Amino acid sequence: MSQEQWSEVDDYLTSLLHDPDASLDRANEAALAARLPPIQVSAPLGKLLHLMAKMIGARRILEVGTLGGYSATWLGRALPPEGKLLTLEIDPTHAEVARKNIDAAGVGNSVEVRLGRAIDTLAALATEGVEPFDFVFIDADKPSNADYFAWALDHTHAGSVIVVDNTVQAGTVADPSATDDQTLGVRRLFDLIRDEPRVTATTIQTVGTKGYDGFTVALVL
Ligand SMILES: C[S@@+](CC[C@H](N)C(=O)[O-])C[C@H]1O[C@@H](n2cnc3c(N)ncnc32)[C@H](O)[C@@H]1O
Repeated sequence: MSQEQWSEVDDYLTSLLHDPDASLDRANEAALAARLPPIQVSAPLGKLLHLMAKMIGARRILEVGTLGGYSATWLGRALPPEGKLLTLEIDPTHAEVARKNIDAAGVGNSVEVRLGRAIDTLAALATEGVEPFDFVFIDADKPSNADYFAWALDHTHAGSVIVVDNTVQAGTVADPSATDDQTLGVRRLFDLIRDEPRVTATTIQTVGTKGYDGFTVALVL
C-alpha cells in the first residue's frame, strides 16, 4: 500500500465518522499560515484521544507539546465544564498560535498553554504541588519521552491513562542499526515501562496521513 492510499482512507473515515468541525480545520490552517510544521496528530488520532479522555471521565489533562493547539482542542472538548487541560510548549510562536486557536474553538476557559521547556515547567508544577492528572498526552521532543513519562507516573493515580505519540517511527524502534536520538528516546521509554510495576502498556502501529508510525497507551495501576 502507498502513502496516497493511507491518506485517502483516513480522509474517507474522517468524512464518515467525524462531524464537520470548522474550528479544527481553521486551527490547522492558522498553524500552516504561521509556518508551524504540520506535525499535529491526524484527525483520527485526535478523535481517539478525545474518546479515551471521555471514556475515563478525565477532569484534569496534561499535554506535553502543544504546537498550534490541534490535539489540545480535541482534548479540551472532552472535558466536563469544570475540567482543566494544561498544555506545555517551548516555542513562543507555537504557544501564541495555539492560544488563539484554542480561544477560537471555544475551549479557552478550560485550557491553559504554559510556555517553557517542558522539563522545567514540570519541575515547577511538582514544586507547586500540582493535583494529579487523569490523562496525559506526551507529544514533544522524543529524546525526553522517558523523563516526561516518569514525571507523569508520579503525578497521576490508579486508573489514569498516559498516551505517548510517535513511538514506532516507521519501524526504527525495532531496528538495531537505528541509533538516532529520537529512536533511543523511544527505546528508553519502553525500557522504563518494562521495568515499572506501576503501569501496564501496549503500543499500536498505525498508518494514515502521517505515514507509518504508532503510539503507546499506558494504564496507571
Ligand atoms: C509534535 S508537536 C505537538 C503536536 C500537538 N500535540 C498536536 O498534535 O496538535 C511537538 C511540539 O512540542 C514542542 N516541544 C519540543 N520540545 C519541547 C520541550 N522541550 N518542551 C516543551 N515543548 C517542546 C515543539 O515546539 C512542538 O510544538
